[in-house]
Amino acid sequence: MRMSKRISGFQASPIRRLVPYANDAKRRGVHVFHLNIGQPDIITPPQVIEAVRDYGRKIIAYGQSEGELELREALPSYYKSFGVDVAADDIMITTGGSEAIQFTFMTLCDPGDEVIVPEPYYTNVGAFAQTASITLKPVTSRLEDGFTLPDIAHFEAMVTPKTRAIMLCSPNNPTGHIYTDEELRQILDLVKRLDIFLIVDEVYREFVYDGKRFTSVLSYPEYADRVVVVDSFSKRYSMCGARIGALVCKNKVVLEGAMKIAQARLCPPDIEQVAALAAVKTPQEYLDRVRDEYESRRDFIVNELHKIPGVLCSEPKGAFYLVAKLPVENAEDFCIYLLRDFQLNGQTVMLAPAEGFYVTEGLGRDEVRIAYVLNTVDLKHAMACLKAALASYPGRKDPVA
Ligand SMILES: Cc1ncc(COP(=O)(O)O)c(C=O)c1O
Repeated sequence: MRMSKRISGFQASPIRRLVPYANDAKRRGVHVFHLNIGQPDIITPPQVIEAVRDYGRKIIAYGQSEGELELREALPSYYKSFGVDVAADDIMITTGGSEAIQFTFMTLCDPGDEVIVPEPYYTNVGAFAQTASITLKPVTSRLEDGFTLPDIAHFEAMVTPKTRAIMLCSPNNPTGHIYTDEELRQILDLVKRLDIFLIVDEVYREFVYDGKRFTSVLSYPEYADRVVVVDSFSKRYSMCGARIGALVCKNKVVLEGAMKIAQARLCPPDIEQVAALAAVKTPQEYLDRVRDEYESRRDFIVNELHKIPGVLCSEPKGAFYLVAKLPVENAEDFCIYLLRDFQLNGQTVMLAPAEGFYVTEGLGRDEVRIAYVLNTVDLKHAMACLKAALASYPGRKDPVA
C-alpha cells in the first residue's frame, strides 16, 4: 500500500534514531549517559506532583479548546515578572510547545509557503514544517562566530513571494545563543518591512546565564501584531511529560485562526493543566536554583570540552545545549561507535549527531549536539568517555599522537 509523499520525506529524529543502539548497549550491561535529549534530571516542583495526586474530579472531562481559563488567567502575572504585558485572551494553551509550533505554521502558511530559519535549528521544527507542507529556508549561523545572528542581508536574500514568517529560537536549541536586543530589532524591522510574521520559540527563557536578563520579543509593543511566541512548561518546571505549552499572540486574527485547529483537537490534556496551574505558582527561588545548576553544568562541560584535543565548541549563553565540532568525518558514525563498539569502565555516552539540525544538506556532519541535562558527576564520566572514544576511534581525522 502507498504511503503519503509527505511521510516518506520525513527523517527519523536525529535525537532519537540511535536509541536501538543505546538499548543494545544497555542490554550488554553498559551504562549510557544520555546527553542526546533535552530530558533534565531536575526534580519537578513538588506542588505539581501533589496537584496531580489531589486531582479530585469524578470525571476527566473535555475542557476548553483554548485551555482552561484559570490557567490562562494565572499566566499573565508570570509574563509580568519579566516585563511583558499579555492578557489571558492573548494565550492559547497547547499540548506542549510542539503543538504551538504546528498550530502557528498551519495558521500562517499555506502549502508551498516558506519560513526562514537560522540553522542549526531545533530539528523537530523540520518535521512540523513537513506536516504543514511548508518549506524552511535556512540562513546559516556558524560555530566560529559563536552562532550569532547572520547578517540581516542573508535573511533578505532568502525572501521570496512565498515567505510568510521568520522563526527564531532564543535561547537557542541547539546552540545556546541568545539573540540580543539589537539582533531582535533588526529582525523585527525586517518582518515589518516585508509585512510577514516573526515566530519566536522562547521555551528556554528561564535559562539565561552570566547574570544577564532575558528580553522577550513580546516586549516590543510596536511590533506586537506580527509576533507569535511559542512557550512551554516542559523545561521551565521540568515537567516534559505533562505536555503543556502555549501559543502567545496579541493578534486576534492569528489566535482565531489557530482556534479552528484547536477546536478540531478538542482540548489540551486536563490533568496536566491542573499540574501546570500549580507550576505557575512555583516560587522564583526554584527557577533561580535550577538556572544556577545549569549554569554550573555549562561552565563544567565547556571547560571539559576545551580540554579534549581536536574538539571545538562555542560557549552557550542560555538553554542547556551546545554544538561541538569533533575531529571526525561523520559524527553520526562516531555516535554509533560510542554506543556499539565502545565502553570505558562499563560506561558510554549518547550524543545527537548535529547534521539533522541543519536544513542545508552536508552541514554539521562533523558536529554533535550535547544536552547538559545531567549532574556534573555524570557529566564528568560522560566527558571521560567522549575523550577516550575520540582517542580510540578509527575514523578520527587527525590521529592523536
Ligand atoms: C526549542 C524547543 N521548542 C519546543 C520544544 C517542544 O517542547 P514541548 O515539550 O513543550 O513540546 C522543545 C523540546 O525540546 C525545544 O527544544
